[in-house]
Amino acid sequence: MKIRKAVFPVAGLGTRVLPATKAMPKEMLTIVDRPLIQYVVDEAREAGIEHFVFVTGRNKGVIEDHFDRMYELDATLAARGKKAEQEILARDQPAPGAMSFTRQQAPLGLGHAVWCARDIVGREPFAVILPDELVLNTPGCLAQMIETAASLGDKSNLIAVEEVPAHLTHQYGICGVGKRDGRMFEIDGMVEKPKQGTAPSNFSITGRYILQPEIFQILETQEHGAGGEIQLTDAMIGLSKTQKFYGVDFDGERHDCGSRAGFLRANIAFGMARNDLRADLREAMRKYLEK
Ligand code: UTP
Repeated sequence: MKIRKAVFPVAGLGTRVLPATKAMPKEMLTIVDRPLIQYVVDEAREAGIEHFVFVTGRNKGVIEDHFDRMYELDATLAARGKKAEQEILARDQPAPGAMSFTRQQAPLGLGHAVWCARDIVGREPFAVILPDELVLNTPGCLAQMIETAASLGDKSNLIAVEEVPAHLTHQYGICGVGKRDGRMFEIDGMVEKPKQGTAPSNFSITGRYILQPEIFQILETQEHGAGGEIQLTDAMIGLSKTQKFYGVDFDGERHDCGSRAGFLRANIAFGMARNDLRADLREAMRKYLEK
């Protein structure tokens, strides 16, 4: 199964981290010195994705600008002999023509955002990556999923899953676990935010998916679900009646950068992973911990 396209839903309101997201898209928040959206585009590129589909909305224009060439900046860097900086900017950009932008005019839910990409994706399997979830690992989470997908049948769907403490399962979409094979298992049912004590496992659905295009037909008529939104999980439950779903218990640390604490933790984790910052950061944290 060849996965060429990845969809990045970036049209949400980011209410959990207001006021940071009042005038700036959540996806442009920086972890160390790179916006969230850059990390996930890099993860997709590393996984062999060739086309990047952004589902944007109101106030999200700066995301398109981020992936554009900035002539004035380029010229200034060149005049000042800042070659390394110029190279970083050039490296971060996908190839010309490898990006598409479409609009979700109102944030009606993740399922609705994915459905907005239907015409650009067409009739082929595709990846979905939520930019506010970062996974710190090499190879990245999507690369691990694509490698797993290679051993599965053509009409397979995959979801990155992560174990969560049993007393927190009611906050997540949870998968039932069928036949297991190493880090992968057949998904035996999915339930969105199960009542306490009723979860079929403690494997939660995270923000990386490989989906078959038939999901779009289901999303087309999907009813509004939890929170009044069109939920991707509900559509996946529908599709699981006719196609197989697999959970990939990926290698790596997941960070929910759309929450305040998760965002701070991600900055520490990604900062500590940087050779140029580790010593300073460790020293600063030591001082704070001693206070
Ligand atoms: P979240 O569930 O984090 O929602 O979306 P949100 O609206 O961004 O943030 P909160 O919960 O209000 O703080 C996960 C991803 O899906 C996108 C978001 O932009 C984010 O990248 N999304 C969500 C959409 O594109 N459209 C939507 O209608 C909802």
